[in-house]
Amino acid sequence: MKVAIIGIGYVGAVTAACLARDGHDVIAVDVNPTKVAAIQNGQAPIIEPGLPELTAKVVAEGRLRATNDVALAIAEADMCLICVGTPSNNVGGLELTYVLRVAAEIGAALKKRAGFHSVVVRSTILPGTMDSTVIPALEAASGKKAGKGFGIGYYPEFLREGTAIKDYDDPGLIVFGARDDATFEHLSSLQESTSHRVQRVEIRTAEGVKYFCNAWHALKISFANEVGNICKAHGIDGPEVMEALVSDTRLNVSKAYLRPGFAYGGSCLPKDLRALRQSARQLNVPTPVLDGTGAANEVQIDQAFQLVTRIKNVNRRVSFLGVSFKPDTDDLRESPLVLLAERLLGKGYDISIYDANVRMSRLTGANLAYVLDLLPHISRMLREDIEQVLAFSDVVIVGHAKLLRDIDPAKLAGKTIIDLAGLPKEWRARQEYYGICW
Ligand SMILES: NC(=O)c1ccc[n+]([C@@H]2O[C@H](COP(=O)([O-])OP(=O)(O)OC[C@H]3O[C@@H](n4cnc5c(N)ncnc54)[C@H](O)[C@@H]3O)[C@@H](O)[C@H]2O)c1
Repeated sequence: MKVAIIGIGYVGAVTAACLARDGHDVIAVDVNPTKVAAIQNGQAPIIEPGLPELTAKVVAEGRLRATNDVALAIAEADMCLICVGTPSNNVGGLELTYVLRVAAEIGAALKKRAGFHSVVVRSTILPGTMDSTVIPALEAASGKKAGKGFGIGYYPEFLREGTAIKDYDDPGLIVFGARDDATFEHLSSLQESTSHRVQRVEIRTAEGVKYFCNAWHALKISFANEVGNICKAHGIDGPEVMEALVSDTRLNVSKAYLRPGFAYGGSCLPKDLRALRQSARQLNVPTPVLDGTGAANEVQIDQAFQLVTRIKNVNRRVSFLGVSFKPDTDDLRESPLVLLAERLLGKGYDISIYDANVRMSRLTGANLAYVLDLLPHISRMLREDIEQVLAFSDVVIVGHAKLLRDIDPAKLAGKTIIDLAGLPKEWRARQEYYGICW
């Protein structure tokens, strides 16, 4: 395929050379004459292991050329990949000047170009930017409709400088946000040799995936650094602690605990996080990551509270399905569902609760003491019959998804569902359905 790479920086230079190596006919474009000249002379425009040799080879073989002329490149190519910079602006936001400039230039070239051409952005841009900004700029300049007059896609890049060619060949993730099938086919043909699974998603999902991958990497680094700081103050070896931590690939470095949903709770996480932060304070070690984690958990309980209180609910009654901190336990200690119920009671709501594992007669010890402290009248709220609880209110808070499994759907007709548990996606089609963070 003939591919134009717009922007020969760290991403563009590596992508161009690797695509040329894979047999594509590549034309690279940059406004910087030094970078264009470098490619024309068979030299890598950036420092990157393996790139000088690869660039020299593919240029000598005639599969990689460079120009400063966007229109020429668009006229020749089947697809262009926009790889220009998207730096921070002076208030920390996303600077789109370069992307918009090339969108206008590409659009103008598309106006004159016959036949189908796919425009794909690889630069990192915030979710919604293609729809709100890039596509309108391309359509305005070309007079054509995205997805019909020209193809449109977003294909985030995940390479890391220093290992860029290796990462290009063995990416952790390949996500194509392509609206039209022709662009998806074009993108797929770039990855023909890969054994990796290609995920096709909405354009704005692909934009989001890129940001959250980077946010996740940054969070991991700061977490590990904070562990190191706390450990050092305690006189223990932080790297050794983290070695042990990452050796658990079941709970620690895995999919576990990585699904959007309701707050954490129970007898361990909140208490242990508090103690760790408190001991760090005594040792004068700042713990912004751990502090933020506690604050984020409170935000999630508040989200649920806002969901419930924003719903029109004349008699202020709500039914809870599930109240323990997670399914398959009767532990109510620091259950976010108990904390939500307490807040709703404070707002004058009437509450009825069903939880297959929670029976007043069986609650005991610290568990009983905890819940009586927050919900002194819990015995009046708890019911052993789920149908009684459903009949109590038209607003049902689903804390544990499995409790809905055996319910006759007719019993839920007309009810408003507040989903804190992640019910299957079909539920979202209901008219009166609110998800906690979806
Ligand atoms: N560097 C990385 O490791 C990396 C990894 C993944 C994603 N990204 C993202 O990829 C994008 C590019 O990053 P980079 O580090 O390669 O940027 P860079 O600054 O190294 O390169 C951008 C290039 O675009 C060129 N350019 C600017 N305006 C142009 C125009 N109108 N026409 C043609 N060329 C133009 C610049 O001259 C420059 O050579 C950014 O959005 C970045 O966030 C970067």
